Order: sequence, then C-alpha cells, then structure tokens
Amino acid sequence: MNLKDHIRGVPDFPKPGILFYDISTLLRNADAWQVAMGRLASVVRAYQPDVLAGVESRGFLLAAPLALKLGCGFVMLRKRGKLPGATIGLDYDLEYGTDRIEIQADAVKPGQRVVVVDDLLATGGTMSAGISLLKHAQADVVAAIALIELTFLQGRGRLDVPFEALVQYDQ
Ligand code: PRP
Ligand code: MG
Repeated sequence: MNLKDHIRGVPDFPKPGILFYDISTLLRNADAWQVAMGRLASVVRAYQPDVLAGVESRGFLLAAPLALKLGCGFVMLRKRGKLPGATIGLDYDLEYGTDRIEIQADAVKPGQRVVVVDDLLATGGTMSAGISLLKHAQADVVAAIALIELTFLQGRGRLDVPFEALVQYDQ
C-alpha cells in the first residue's frame, strides 16, 4: 500500500501558500491506519524504547496507539499551559508562527530510552524542541519518528538524534 494515496494535500491551509498534508483521510480509513501503525511499529521497535513521547496534537493520534502496541509508556509533549504540576518548557518557531512546548518535570526517569513521535516533520522546530526538553529531563532520546517528512524544509538537519519517516514529500 502506498500511504500517500491516503494523505490529502490541502492547498492554502492554514495560510495562503502553505500546502497542508492532512492525515484525517488516512485515519478514517481502517486499512490505511492499520498499515501505517504496523509500519511505524516496526521502525520504532528497533530502537527498543521504554517510553514514547507524543507531540500535541496530531502526534498523540499516532504515539498513543503505538505505545500500546509496543508495550511502552506514553508521555505528552503539550502546548503551553495544559499540563498540571511542575513543568519545563521551550519556545520554538513553527512553519507558520511560534509556539511553546512543555512536559511535566517528572515525565521521564533519567536514562529512560525515549522515542519522540509526531505526525509530520516540517522545519523540525517542534521535534527539535521536544528532543531538547526530554534531554533536559535526562531522558536518553534514542530516535525521532514521523509519519510524514517535508524534505524540502530540511528539518532533519536540525535534529541530533536518528530520524525516520514513512513518507517523504519534496514540495
Ligand atoms: C504541525 C505538525 C507538527 C509540526 C511540524 O503541528 O503536526 O507537529 O507542525 O512543524 P515543524 O517541523 O515546522 O515544527 P501544529 O503545531 O500545526 O499543530 P497540531 O499538531 O496541534 O495540529
Ligand atoms: Mg503537530
């Protein structure tokens, strides 16, 4: 199965000139979602993670079921102000705007093997902020994984851990 057949490109969303790769069409198709999750599981399993860290919001859709499938814990990298208790956070630039990502200060134990999971890597700002935060929390960040990589934005060059994606777009 070519997963690209199930990912819809929406022009001029959320701003003129941005081509938005929409995974809603993949998620609503039971076979396509199953195939995507199976392939992600094979990729992620090889890194032998203790915990998967999902990036709010769309990363949660993949990371939580993947963690369940692999028998890993799941932690949330959330947008500002959503997590109770002590948190640590980092501001970062987005493909369109700026944002802040946070984790609970006790989300991971020192040395735990963590794989960060998001739906899409664009500029790499989000993923790189997530990795930095987890490292700050003393996690052993062993890999970063996305379903989709926008290769023309060269986001993987900003990451200091191995990165893999199932599907690449060069424009
Ligand atoms: C999108 C996407 C990634 C991020 C990639 O999330 O889901 O998380 O942007 O961009 P980057 O590599 O340039 O940082 P977005 O912040 O739009 O929000 P959402 O997941 O909550 O829809
Ligand atoms: Mg996102």
